Amino acid sequence: MCGIVGYVGKGNVQEVLLHGLEKLEYRGYDSAGILVVDADNKGHLFKEKGRIADLLAIVDMDIDAHVGIGHTRWATHGVPSVENAHPHQSTDGRFTLVHNGVIENFKEIKDEYLQDVTFVSQTDTEIVVQLIGKIAAEENLNGKEALRRALSIVRGSYAFALVDTQAPNVFYAAKNKSPLLIGLGDDFNVVASDAMATVQITNQYVEIHDGEMVTLTAEGVTIETLNGKTIARNPYTAQIDASDLEKGTYPYYMLKEIDEQPAVMRNIVQKYQNEEGRLTVPEDLVTAMLAADRIHIVACGTSYHSGWVGKHYLEKFAQIPTEVHVASEFSYNPPLLTGNPFFVFLTQSGETADSRQVLVKVKEWGYPSLTITNVAGSTLSREADFTLLLHAGPEIAVASTKAYTAQIAVLAVLSDALGAKLGHDMGINMVRELGIVATAMEAVIDDKERIGELANIYLPNTRNAFYIGRGLDYYVSMEAALKLKEISYIQTEGFAAGELKHGTIALIEEGTPVLAIITQANVASHTRGNIEEVRSRGANTCVFAMEGLAHDNDQVILPAVHPALAPLLTVVPTQLMAYYATLARGYDVDKPRNLAKSVTVE
Ligand code: F6R
Repeated sequence: MCGIVGYVGKGNVQEVLLHGLEKLEYRGYDSAGILVVDADNKGHLFKEKGRIADLLAIVDMDIDAHVGIGHTRWATHGVPSVENAHPHQSTDGRFTLVHNGVIENFKEIKDEYLQDVTFVSQTDTEIVVQLIGKIAAEENLNGKEALRRALSIVRGSYAFALVDTQAPNVFYAAKNKSPLLIGLGDDFNVVASDAMATVQITNQYVEIHDGEMVTLTAEGVTIETLNGKTIARNPYTAQIDASDLEKGTYPYYMLKEIDEQPAVMRNIVQKYQNEEGRLTVPEDLVTAMLAADRIHIVACGTSYHSGWVGKHYLEKFAQIPTEVHVASEFSYNPPLLTGNPFFVFLTQSGETADSRQVLVKVKEWGYPSLTITNVAGSTLSREADFTLLLHAGPEIAVASTKAYTAQIAVLAVLSDALGAKLGHDMGINMVRELGIVATAMEAVIDDKERIGELANIYLPNTRNAFYIGRGLDYYVSMEAALKLKEISYIQTEGFAAGELKHGTIALIEEGTPVLAIITQANVASHTRGNIEEVRSRGANTCVFAMEGLAHDNDQVILPAVHPALAPLLTVVPTQLMAYYATLARGYDVDKPRNLAKSVTVE
């Protein structure tokens, strides 16, 4: 959903911008650009289709610049091309703008204010920069006031960084709904969509809230509302270790992040354990959740899939009826709510627009909310009443892996804490069982080459595939299918094993891969029956089964873990299957086509 970075001060501006954009590439990677302003206040614009590496090849690193803005794009309006790449400029070249978000009233603005302007791109962003240029020229306003006026006209989501070549040594920023942070330095200041972009030069950050604009010089930063009221806000220290952002000796971030999962499990136990060794969450969160007559989990994509496992835990351990919702559906078609609902937002990034849209409504309705996220200080974390952190470390690969298992583990911790408060003994020592899961994950990861061989047998040349399972295994099947399809481009469906025969089995042909997950004793024999049904119709079946339920000829036999926690383990070989299938098919594992990690448009 696009990443932006802006810099003013001493230092190599091009280097800071390009490094920042590289770290923001997970937010979009179809084109990129920067503008830097030199000592004579002349702007130099570089734009390229493709990745940051392609942009790097055309940037003049020797320009002695003191201000710059940059952008990496995930197309919303206009195809990926040099013309549509940001930054965009006003016709007279005075103003240059980068933007993350979507301008809703771009057509009205064009019709009402810009009929005589010739546009060079198809983007909504160019309309904004042309509007700023027009306002400045016609109303004789300086850049800052022209931006302020333009913001009073613009509707939609935005994080902007704006350079005015008539105002030396300064740039402006503004935010509404899209993420943007200020980074503070000794002789420079920056803005970025994510602290990851600039953490190598500063760990001091200041939040920008929706409806605020910022003026940045090397010496200082002024935050103000659109009405001109100055805001004082303290900085915080970003808890990001710059070395976590490197992939080290790994060929891809995804493999590194799969490998990190056992450590993440142990970290979660450590973070949520109290001195008596029990898993706890804040008491006021427990009280608020236990007052609810229904819990609603709201999420998208992989987080939505972990929500289904969360439903199982909340109902099993805490005995509170729980529903799971796709955020983009809930926003505009909410279900009939009971008297005391409680909302749980699952979001790795804490920035997903579809989920945030629901949180805004939930707050309007006055219901309590919890965000479970990997990013402290993210928008959904700030706006919900409670936050629980995943403690998974930055997840860079577009395909989510460790955040999925971390979400499930935190949901298990939460449900366990709620159950304990209610005095339910569910017969599970969560600390011990999560430790067993971590060790079992290690065993599966150590055997990754075997999974690679299976991926090479079943998946490289297929057009479609199925994952099947029942109960918790079905929930993992949905996630396994998403992982495989989003990076290998094999059309894959995750299916409730028993439902296949009600229509979809018609798609099974000679050689269709059907990958089955079996970890739940109460349904294992039924899933075995469903495997036979597809095998007898030509399917090429591959079985992932847990010790105790496995047959000798199953392809993957997983170490035994507590059945309720089996999703944490079974998903690991499916992540590896997706990884190796993608390698075999020759695609970029970390940056699948058409995707971006943080989806900040609705
Ligand atoms: C898939 C994936 C996405 C995200 C989804 C929600 O691998 O990562 O499906 O899970 O876009 O993102 P968050 O969790 O950041 O709200």
